[in-house]
Amino acid sequence: PHSHSYCPSRSARMFKEYFQYKGISFPEFIYSPCALQTVENDFQVLDDDVFNVTYQKSGTVWMLEILSLIQSNGDPSWCQTVPNWDRAPWYETVLGLRRARRNHSPRLISSHLPIQLFAKSFFKSKAKVIYTIRNPKDVLVSLYHFAQMFHPFKDPGSLDQFLEEFLKGDVPFGSWFDHVRGWMGLQGHENFFYITYEELLQDLRGSVERICRFLGKQLDEQALDSVVANASFQAMRKNKMSNFSTAPSFILNKNSSFLRKGISGDWKNHLTASQSERFDCVYQERMQGLDVTFPWDNQ
Ligand code: A3P
Repeated sequence: PHSHSYCPSRSARMFKEYFQYKGISFPEFIYSPCALQTVENDFQVLDDDVFNVTYQKSGTVWMLEILSLIQSNGDPSWCQTVPNWDRAPWYETVLGLRRARRNHSPRLISSHLPIQLFAKSFFKSKAKVIYTIRNPKDVLVSLYHFAQMFHPFKDPGSLDQFLEEFLKGDVPFGSWFDHVRGWMGLQGHENFFYITYEELLQDLRGSVERICRFLGKQLDEQALDSVVANASFQAMRKNKMSNFSTAPSFILNKNSSFLRKGISGDWKNHLTASQSERFDCVYQERMQGLDVTFPWDNQ
């Protein structure tokens, strides 16, 4: 093996155990310090790479589907024949890194990494990042459910307990606040584009048009219609290549659905008034000075 990609094999990968990499927790089962180090220092970003970056549970696979459909000019056959994790691999996972390196250009690559752990070569490239952000209260609720079905994650315990861990950033990928503040630091750079989950929900077609403009991609009306139709919650739920129904059951408990509800404001069904106030309090403190207004800020 090349010296930079040599990873000593790990004796045992443990379910539900986390390791720390530069202060951030990662589940041992699908991540390794070695792969993270390789991603950060050795991964060769290409100028025509497009990165689908999110804090987990913010609409990653939705954006992945939109970007796949845009790349194939609205033709759904790629999305219907290749699993999403191969179309736009999560390059910080052990297997995703291998896949990302093998995929042909122009590559789509997904990532939940905070900006300080991202491939250094990105910052010297013309590659593009699309950053999708979601109301963190909905992220919390979505993650709470996901943690109960995704075996590499620890059981989240009570929502009250999990809320505190989330607010502290004591969850895989670290703090939502740090993630958002870190990536939003690229605002204004021409290779950075951000959009919210809520905007996608409210106006998918308009959002797709904006994404196309950012990517320098022109789709005709029919292709646009097809992107919108095939990236709908219902279409994605039915598509085996997008709904994780083919994921191994030792990774994902298939009794629940990855595409769970697909709405905004589900937090209102789960958080008590005092939990919501507690959240607002930390939110205000942690988001202070960030010069952006999100759709949920004035609700
Ligand atoms: P819920 O758990 O609130 O339903 P990620 O892909 O980052 O893990 O995010 C998963 C969340 O995005 C889930 O939220 C999922 O239902 C939602 N989602 C995925 N595809 C969607 C779509 N086409 N429309 C709306 N929501 C979608």
